[in-house]
Amino acid sequence: MAFTDEHSLRCRADFPALSHKPQGLDLAYLDGPGGSQVPRIVIDTMGDFYATCNVNTHGKFAPSQEVDRRMDLARAAVASFLGAESPACISFGQNMTTLNYALSAAIGRTLGKGDEILITQLDHEANRGPWLRLQEHGVVIQEVRLLGSGLLDLNDMAAKITSRTKVFAVGASSNALGTVNDIALARRLTDVVGALLVVDAVHYAPHFPLDVKTLGMDFLLCSGYKFYGPHVGVLYSKPGALDRLPTDRLSVQDPAAPHRIETGTLNHAAIDGLRAAVEYLAGWGSGATLRERIVDAMSAISAYEHGLAKFYHDAVRTLPGARVWGPDFSARSRAPTVSITLDGIGAGAAAEALGKEGICVWDGHFYAARAVGVLGLSERGGLLRTGVSMYSSRKDLERLLAGIVKLAS
Ligand SMILES: Cc1ncc(COP(=O)(O)O)c(C=O)c1O
Repeated sequence: MAFTDEHSLRCRADFPALSHKPQGLDLAYLDGPGGSQVPRIVIDTMGDFYATCNVNTHGKFAPSQEVDRRMDLARAAVASFLGAESPACISFGQNMTTLNYALSAAIGRTLGKGDEILITQLDHEANRGPWLRLQEHGVVIQEVRLLGSGLLDLNDMAAKITSRTKVFAVGASSNALGTVNDIALARRLTDVVGALLVVDAVHYAPHFPLDVKTLGMDFLLCSGYKFYGPHVGVLYSKPGALDRLPTDRLSVQDPAAPHRIETGTLNHAAIDGLRAAVEYLAGWGSGATLRERIVDAMSAISAYEHGLAKFYHDAVRTLPGARVWGPDFSARSRAPTVSITLDGIGAGAAAEALGKEGICVWDGHFYAARAVGVLGLSERGGLLRTGVSMYSSRKDLERLLAGIVKLAS
C-alpha cells in the first residue's frame, strides 16, 4: 500500500492530542524523536485494562488469567513488529535506558580485564553510559569516530573491531542527525571476531520496518513511546542469548528468557497499550499475517515520512543563515529527522520562539551529547531538531519554515 497525504490527514483524527489546543494554539508536533502522540485505541486499551483486569499475573482467577492472556498477546505483537523468532525473545522494562543498564551489567560480569567494548561518538548516551560504566571493572572502551558529515567513520569502525572486542554497541539511527548506520556491516565485522552486537533501535523503530532475524543482532532495544505507544522499554534477545547471561534477578524469579531480565512487576497496562499501538500501525498495511501488515504499513509510512522530511530539508538549507547538519537525502536510508543551526540565534531561543507559535521542535543535544560535542556545537546551544511522524503534514513544515524565516529576519 501507499501512505499518502490523505492517509496522514485521516490518521490525525485518531490522535486526540492533535486536536487539543492549549491557549487556542493549533499545535504542530514535530518532536517525534523525543516521543510520539498516541492514538485513541492505545488510550482506550489502557483504560480498559485498569477498568477490567488491574491485578497481577499468574493468579488462579479470571482477571489475572486475562492479564496473562494480554501479556502473551503483547509479546507476540512486539515479536511481529521486530520480526523476532518468537515472543520469548521479547523482554519488557521501564524504558530503553534501564533495560540497557541491566543488559550491560549482566554482560559486564562475563568480561575480564582488558576486554574491549566498542561504542560510537554518534550514539545517544543511553547506549554509551551503561557501557562506559564497565570501565570500573577494567573493561576498555573504544569509540568509533563521527565524521563532520554526520556519518560514522567506517574505516575506524573496522579497525577497532579486533579479537579483543567483546561487544559492539551501536545505534541503528541517530536521534540527533537522522543518520542510519550500516548494521549489516557491523554484524559481519563482529561475527569475524565473535563479538556481541547490541543495537539501539529507539530512533529507527518508528521510521523503518525492522527485521531482527535478517540483521542477526544479538540484542536490540527500542522504546514504545517513540512509535505511538506508552512508556515501555523493549529488549529483543536472539534465542539463547539472554539465558546465558548472569542478570540481576531475584532467586524466586523465572530464570528463563524473556523473564530473566524483567525485575519486579511490569507496567502491564502500558504493555497492553503497546500491543494496541503495534496493531494500530499494522492497520495501515495489508497482508495475511500481522507481520505482513506491519512490514507493509511501516514501509509505506517510511516513504511518506522520508518525502516530508526531504521537502523540509531541501527548503531549509536554502534559507540564509541556516545550516543543516547530518547526512543529505541522496540516500534513501536516512531517518526523517533534520537538525539545523541558525546564524545569530541559538537553538534554545529559536525553539522557544517557535513554541510560542505552537510549533513543537526540540533544541540542544537530546542526550546525543558526544555527537553534538564532536561537531563543535555544545557551546552554541546545540541543534534545532525537527522530526517527522506519520501524522505530520506539509502544512506543519510550512508553518515551521515560515517561523524560521521570521526568526532569521
Ligand atoms: C536513539 C535513542 N536511544 C535511546 C533513548 C533512550 O530511550 P528511553 O527514553 O526509552 O530510555 C532515546 C531517547 O530519546 C533515543 O532517542
